Amino acid sequence: MVIPISEAEGVAPGLVPQRTLYTGVLMPAIGLGTFGSEHSPADEVARAVKDAVSLGYRHLDCASVYQNENQIGAALQDVFHQGIGREELWIGSKLWNDKHAEADIIPACRQSLADLQLNYLDMYLVHWPFPNFHPPGCGVDSRSPDAKPYIHDRFMKTWRQMERLVDLGLVRHIGTSNMTIPKLKLLLRDARIKPAVNQMELHPHFQQRELFDFVRANGMEPVGYSPVGSPARPERDRTPEDTVDIEDSVIIKIADRLGVHPAAVCVKWAVQRGQTPIPFSTKRGNYLANLRCTTTEPLTADDMQAIARIDKNCRLIKGQVFLWRENQTWEDLWDVDGEIRT
Ligand SMILES: NC(=O)c1ccc[n+]([C@@H]2O[C@H](COP(=O)([O-])OP(=O)(O)OC[C@H]3O[C@@H](n4cnc5c(N)ncnc54)[C@H](OP(=O)(O)O)[C@@H]3O)[C@@H](O)[C@H]2O)c1
Repeated sequence: MVIPISEAEGVAPGLVPQRTLYTGVLMPAIGLGTFGSEHSPADEVARAVKDAVSLGYRHLDCASVYQNENQIGAALQDVFHQGIGREELWIGSKLWNDKHAEADIIPACRQSLADLQLNYLDMYLVHWPFPNFHPPGCGVDSRSPDAKPYIHDRFMKTWRQMERLVDLGLVRHIGTSNMTIPKLKLLLRDARIKPAVNQMELHPHFQQRELFDFVRANGMEPVGYSPVGSPARPERDRTPEDTVDIEDSVIIKIADRLGVHPAAVCVKWAVQRGQTPIPFSTKRGNYLANLRCTTTEPLTADDMQAIARIDKNCRLIKGQVFLWRENQTWEDLWDVDGEIRT
């Protein structure tokens, strides 16, 4: 059963900040992430989705590769039966890497729609710019035998089908994820329908200032994944150099002053900075705290400056499994010297 929003518990959706996309459409400036990885089974994520909507969340970040769209679709039916209209929600999904071929894109989107039991998506993203598939849960050394670098002409064939999804009315907006400035420049040059958002890793220790500014300067909204620093990511996605945002003394000091968990400070900073964080949680107290902190008194200018200074350029989701040659390092995926690596 969907529990109704009470003043004491939930947050009125009208109070939550919104982003205006270049189409003029509003997108809630915080969403609920739904990637349960190996720690949260599909049913648990679906239950959190239903409850989070009852508490005032209106933006959901889904993906076929999260293997839970089916269960989330059933949860959404409960939400609709409780009287929340489809048009009140902002629901996104993503095209997985094994579906970049021209003939696969529209069927893949239709499959997500069928699983989510929807007749349109508000946002559909190309999850990664590479068509390189790997089985869920594989080790970071795993490589798909026919892995390829980013090939712009190939990507544009995928993008043309993404544009068709808009023409067909199946999706309202299309966007990218895990792109770099050089790749986005080519896409912006050649797109008929330009991306409305770029989903990218963003948290206090990984602020990606240049890309963040580029995305906004070009009329897209930055959507920030792993906003809390993905503390529950699997062991295989950790390296000894990784730092921990929620253990940073600057974040902890602000959290102590405000009486919230350091995670909520990361989320609050993200919304105030101008990105749209999509924190994952299946714990009511935590996802409610993340939503609530977007409506409470803003961080001070000193807080914002202090957090700006703790950027450590610490990328957590490195994407090693998408590399296409032997003896490469994960930096090759991210065009760190401004050139697309081939
Ligand atoms: N486009 C992409 O390639 C991509 C990549 C990665 C992620 N994503 C998306 O981004 C979403 C979020 O990223 P993420 O899951 O990697 O990391 P995240 O949101 O930074 O971290 C999630 C973890 O933080 C904990 N947490 C969240 N809020 C908390 C709070 N207020 N207090 C204490 N703990 C809190 C959660 O634990 P509890 O469950 O115990 O609360 C969960 O383990 C994903 O679910 C997915 O939708 C997209």
